[in-house]
Amino acid sequence: MSLLEFFVVQFKSRFVRLFRMKKVLTGIKATGVHIGNWIGAIKPALEMAEDPNVLGLYFIADYHALNSVQKREDLSFRIKDVAATWLGLGLDPSKTIFYKQSDVPEIMELSTILAAIMPKGLLNRAHAYKAKIQSNEEAGKADLDDGVNMGLYTYPLLMTADILAFNADLIPVGEDNAQHLEIARDVASKFNRLFGETLKVPEIFVRKGKLLPGIDGRKMSASYNNHIPVFLAEKKLRKMIMKIKTDSTPPEEPKKYDSNDLITFFEEFSSLDKVKEMKSKYDKGIAWGEVKQELFEEINMSLKDKREIYNHYMEDSAALSKVLEEGAQKAREITSPLLAEVKKAIGVL
Ligand code: TRP
Repeated sequence: MSLLEFFVVQFKSRFVRLFRMKKVLTGIKATGVHIGNWIGAIKPALEMAEDPNVLGLYFIADYHALNSVQKREDLSFRIKDVAATWLGLGLDPSKTIFYKQSDVPEIMELSTILAAIMPKGLLNRAHAYKAKIQSNEEAGKADLDDGVNMGLYTYPLLMTADILAFNADLIPVGEDNAQHLEIARDVASKFNRLFGETLKVPEIFVRKGKLLPGIDGRKMSASYNNHIPVFLAEKKLRKMIMKIKTDSTPPEEPKKYDSNDLITFFEEFSSLDKVKEMKSKYDKGIAWGEVKQELFEEINMSLKDKREIYNHYMEDSAALSKVLEEGAQKAREITSPLLAEVKKAIGVL
């Protein structure tokens, strides 16, 4: 076999492999990553990518952040932070395709195409937009769309394009993104009905189990500002954990652990033995401060090595850019032929 033939075979088999593998895709908005995102979406996504038959497609949704982050330094820092967080949490860029949304222009082109067939009503009903309208209504504003930009309004459209541009099979997300995925499924089916079978209708994966509470007891969410970012410096992490809301049961009194927020955290971050030990301490009576100190140690321990990787990439921008550039190149090997098919299907090519 000549060298050229060898490369052709290599190239072909890479493609065949790529197309046979099941594609698991998920993104994180470039606003920041909290431990709820980690447990709810990133961890299951990374676990799935360990299967050799799975191709993980993981990305930083930077254009999704632009509707709220509108300062240059701020956005570029957050992109770096989210990218370094993915890597710190264990993403292996040699085994997955890891990229920045804005580096893959086919996504935005597909978004324009899909806009033409996406019913406006679907976007009117999307929860983030609806919540904004409702809060304007409650504030007695005359313009219910006050403060709503098209980026916010079309958020589910761009998300749909993120997914369909890769013909992804399975999308692990947190519960608050499930509605967006229903929209993506609707639009994919509609496209296929109109133009022939071209796009894959993606499956949704929402992790079962308790949602992580935020420090105020509501579900952890950046929009409630009750979240614990993944890679806080140790001291700040400890301070945050000390703020988790508890009741006023005195230290020596036995404590209930059913639906206790601190126990929910232990269940995520500790061994079964440790959870058992903690529960028996609850039975005997323990001060909340002590529980929190132990929880800090558990969470901190599970993040220590990861934080080092995160810090490495935060300090070495060139290394981070290289990872992302290579990822975008691999991503476009998938999106570019698919977009050509889409263009043929609709009749512009
Ligand atoms: N909306 C997701 C978040 O809240 C980010 C995201 C953008 C996404 N596009 C996606 C997730 C496509 C899954 C699939 O962070």
